[in-house]
Amino acid sequence: MSKVLDGTAIAAAIKQEVAEEVRTLAAKGIRPGLAAVLVGSVPASEIYVRSKVQTCADLGLFSDRITPPDTVTTEEMLDLVAALNARDDIDGILIQLPLPKQVDAKVLLDAIDPAKDVDGFHPVNAGRLQAGRPALAPCTPAGVIEILKRSQIPISGAHAVVVGRSDIVGKPAAMLLLHENATVTICHSKTRDLPSITRQADILVAAIGRPGFITPEMVKPGATIIDVGINRITTREEFDRFFAGNEKREATFAKRGSTIVGDVHPKAFELASAYTPVPGGVGPLTIAMLMANTVRAAKMRRGL
Ligand code: GUN
Repeated sequence: MSKVLDGTAIAAAIKQEVAEEVRTLAAKGIRPGLAAVLVGSVPASEIYVRSKVQTCADLGLFSDRITPPDTVTTEEMLDLVAALNARDDIDGILIQLPLPKQVDAKVLLDAIDPAKDVDGFHPVNAGRLQAGRPALAPCTPAGVIEILKRSQIPISGAHAVVVGRSDIVGKPAAMLLLHENATVTICHSKTRDLPSITRQADILVAAIGRPGFITPEMVKPGATIIDVGINRITTREEFDRFFAGNEKREATFAKRGSTIVGDVHPKAFELASAYTPVPGGVGPLTIAMLMANTVRAAKMRRGL
């Protein structure tokens, strides 16, 4: 039997620890604050930001939700970032992605004070992470490490194969695994004979953004699978490819007209010794780690 790694429970434990730290800081007159910038109206982004702001409230952090219109210019956004960099009540700045086409996301992310870059997207933080210096690490990859550690899955000496090389997940996940002494292989869309490499993985991290991409033939029996993917499927054909005969999913699909599948085919999980489900695996960790990063930024900025 494969063990299900319960991301919701792990995230709850982390959030409880963060809330405790917030109480300790409150006794010193410090209240960590997060600015959550939501541009325009992207439904998924609205849901994420609402959840981030709500979690701040739950844990005792201050938050400021800022909502520029989708016609905002790069210059206007740069002014906003400069103002947030200067605000003493703001320790973390989160600009929810994606941004409208006319906004230069790179210029903007580079303008965030690295000390307030709780997403860990700034090149200074990417460089610090690579150099093994204390850094604000991107939340989702940091969450992957927390899941492994808190589930007592040995990382040191393990062969970790990361499929996907994005700046937000794949690359930083590989770096964090390397710092935990894994032997790390990064694969991507141009990798030759991908299954021969993924089959070597003791820890397989799927972060490609393609529904059910990792199939059973690509998995070594007994591996730990971490599925970072969140893909919405809406057609009956796709549904049947992943969830034929799954009554619970059938009910969700009938009710909502869609369901979520990760980057791993559900059949591939059956070979794993442990795996993160989708939903309820890596997803909940992203917000928990954002809260942890905001508290960390608040402390670092005050030299604590
Ligand atoms: N959009 C999707 N995931 C993320 C994330 O982790 N951070 C930000 N800022 N935007 C996102």
